[in-house]
Amino acid sequence: MLQWLFALSTALPSSFSAPAPATVPALTLRENGDAVIPKVKNTTLYGPVTDPSLVRDSCGSVGWNAGRVLWVCRDTQNLGTDGLPTFPVYTSSASYTDFNSDGSIPWQSVPTNPFNYMSEWIMYGNNQNRSFYPIQYDECNSNQAGQCGDMSRYALWPDYPPMVSVINADGSILAYTWIKKSHITPDLSSLVADPAATLYRVWYQPEVEGTSGPTLPEVEVVQEQFWPQNSFAYGDYGNIVRNGTAYLYAQSSNGTISLAKVGVNDVEDRSKYQYWVNNSWTSTVPALNTSGIQVNATYGGQGTFYYSYPWQSYVWIGQQGHTVDPDFWITTAPEPYGPWTTPTHILSVQAGNYSLGAYSMQAHPALVSSPWTNEIYVSYTKNDIVQNKNLYTQPLIKIEWE
Ligand SMILES: *[C@@H]1O[C@H](CO)[C@@H](O)[C@H](O)[C@H]1NC(C)=O
Ligand SMILES: *[C@@H]1O[C@H](CO)[C@@H](O)[C@H](O)[C@H]1NC(C)=O
Ligand SMILES: *[C@@H]1O[C@H](CO)[C@@H](O)[C@H](O)[C@H]1NC(C)=O
Ligand SMILES: *[C@@H]1O[C@H](CO)[C@@H](O)[C@H](O)[C@H]1NC(C)=O
Ligand SMILES: *[C@@H]1O[C@H](CO)[C@@H](O)[C@H](O)[C@H]1NC(C)=O
Ligand SMILES: *[C@@H]1O[C@H](CO)[C@@H](O)[C@H](O)[C@H]1NC(C)=O
Ligand SMILES: *[C@@H]1O[C@H](CO)[C@@H](O)[C@H](O)[C@H]1NC(C)=O
Ligand SMILES: *[C@@H]1O[C@H](CO)[C@@H](O)[C@H](O)[C@H]1NC(C)=O
Repeated sequence: MLQWLFALSTALPSSFSAPAPATVPALTLRENGDAVIPKVKNTTLYGPVTDPSLVRDSCGSVGWNAGRVLWVCRDTQNLGTDGLPTFPVYTSSASYTDFNSDGSIPWQSVPTNPFNYMSEWIMYGNNQNRSFYPIQYDECNSNQAGQCGDMSRYALWPDYPPMVSVINADGSILAYTWIKKSHITPDLSSLVADPAATLYRVWYQPEVEGTSGPTLPEVEVVQEQFWPQNSFAYGDYGNIVRNGTAYLYAQSSNGTISLAKVGVNDVEDRSKYQYWVNNSWTSTVPALNTSGIQVNATYGGQGTFYYSYPWQSYVWIGQQGHTVDPDFWITTAPEPYGPWTTPTHILSVQAGNYSLGAYSMQAHPALVSSPWTNEIYVSYTKNDIVQNKNLYTQPLIKIEWE
């Protein structure tokens, strides 16, 4: 199956602390002592967030400059004049979306609409037919798919959107992504169960990339084997920045989840990381078989970590294990290490009519107009087959909470 671990986005910069509005909604969520068990009040299916010239897989989002949102997706193809995907494939791509001046989403009607969506939100960005995260010389980089001559592939699929570490006074943004050097066969099985992971720096400067145009941030490799093979790839499975600290989740090939933390200014310095082992932080890097490292976060699949101001709680929304079930689950915790609640079901969506159905469940905290608004947008990748071509769309759904 696809390595569709992934997710989260840190909508808010590390320096952000949201003042409570004068009237904080009265929430009666705390049950079981400290646990927050959210309940859905209402859901609205809008439609896809899409660049009309591209088809792409698994888009995650993060709040970016001047109220824009930056989206980063996996495998991307240009659409032909018939509206169907063409070759070649590039392994990742990025886009921006804009809001209306009041912070709402500028929904448009859908011109060609085989799926009967209500509306769509247009993305833009100059991808230049290149992978957003550059493929390295030892990853079959003669093409933008990481396709090797022996039919194997380096599928450098981002499992999580960029983590914003620092927003400087001049408006420049320093963000990071960790990506596993997944080497897969045509049936999508892994040639290396726990591959090394590369740390990429995503760097945006308003005077270079502009504040509103289609120029995407720069991406550079910090270290190709930042996390070595057969170790935890902290940050790849999820991350969240809070009060100047980045919390970084890893999931090994047998599903074990482990947690690290580092100051937002020290992300490139492995000696500054600490790891959650036997209920305390240690600077000794755990091995895959170290005891006492398991953090019982998530429901095992791809999802998003974020901090909810109304609930004063960490939240994860995502999928159960490595399934293609069209279901969203939620779990919450008072601290990044837990205790996490038993996942509860919040939403079932329509699966696509092709083999991958519905996957890459993600939440998009940057889409909510105020961090105190008691709602969240979620999306998933819907996989359909139309005229024998594989199509992927990312429908957006708003969830309002009790
Ligand atoms: C749920 O949302 C829809 C669309 O936004 C709205 O028409 C409907 O009245 C809402 N229902 C409730 C119970 O709030
Ligand atoms: C990207 O590829 C498409 C389709 O092959 C082509 O039409 C377009 O000109 C290319 N763009 C760039 C910037 O190379
Ligand atoms: C935020 O971090 C500072 C410095 O590490 C610490 O003194 C403060 O207690 C932290 N605040 C919260 C709310 O954790
Ligand atoms: C996962 O693998 C590690 C390393 O072999 C082992 O220590 C751990 O017990 C395994 N966990 C599960 C749930 O199988
Ligand atoms: C963990 O695995 C290493 C080899 O990969 C081995 O040397 C070590 O003894 C193992 N530790 C435990 C606690 O099983
Ligand atoms: C965690 O605690 C257990 C039980 O006390 C102990 O056996 C184990 O060695 C500890 N793990 C580490 C990495 O210290
Ligand atoms: C995590 O789950 C495992 C297996 O269910 C359990 O043994 C362990 O006590 C849990 N740890 C915490 C901190 O809840
Ligand atoms: C899948 O759904 C699309 C959109 O409704 C439709 O055009 C296509 O024919 C369907 N394919 C199959 C095999 O049912």
